Amino acid sequence: MNLLEQMKTRRSIRKYRTERVEREKLDMIVEAGLYAPNAGARQAAKIIMIDDPELIERIGVINAACEKRNWASGVSEEQPSIIDDLSIKSGFYSCTALGIVCIPEKNKGAVNAIGTGFCAAENMVLEAYDLGVSSCIVGRAEATFNHPEMKGLPGEWGLDPEYTPLVFVCLGYIEGNYPAVKARKEGRSLFIPRQED
Ligand SMILES: Cc1cc2nc3c(=O)[nH]c(=O)nc-3n(C[C@H](O)[C@H](O)[C@H](O)COP(=O)(O)O)c2cc1C
Repeated sequence: MNLLEQMKTRRSIRKYRTERVEREKLDMIVEAGLYAPNAGARQAAKIIMIDDPELIERIGVINAACEKRNWASGVSEEQPSIIDDLSIKSGFYSCTALGIVCIPEKNKGAVNAIGTGFCAAENMVLEAYDLGVSSCIVGRAEATFNHPEMKGLPGEWGLDPEYTPLVFVCLGYIEGNYPAVKARKEGRSLFIPRQED
């Protein structure tokens, strides 16, 4: 599959088997994140990879609790989100590995630092897909690590204290069938031709 085909067919997966993702693949997914475009050539994003399902579950339950879950459902029928299915306990579903993209604390409100972090997350999900690993980007990172039970945890793992988590990347092997490509809404692009055309 060429890159455009991969980008078109990748989906957010929320149902995973218990089988762990191989270390070499996790390293390649992190590497993809580290090579993402980055504002000001600062390479500001740092990436934590967790391979411990118990720890992932513990953080995931707090992550889900950080979402009000009272808004209209409809994210996905085949791969329901915590908004679609209120019985789901973990915001990371049953993923077996979890990437956490972090950015400098002092820049957490700056659009370019946020953009840098999300570019890393996007590179990670595309590399995962290329390796046959499913993924889902998940938010609420700041709220999750501001929770009293989680505060200080990234520092205990060795994250530079000047850094703060921005976004999660759930990873694992899909349980069941891979969902079909989602149709795109019309009218989301404009093309301005050159004068002589
Ligand atoms: C910035 C961002 C935050 C997201 N946060 C969540 C989340 O918290 N929980 C979740 O299940 N999916 C989350 N997603 C995944 C989206 O729900 C998903 O990309 C969207 O439904 C489109 O589906 P697709 O990725 O399968 O094409 C997030 C995606 C992005 C880009």
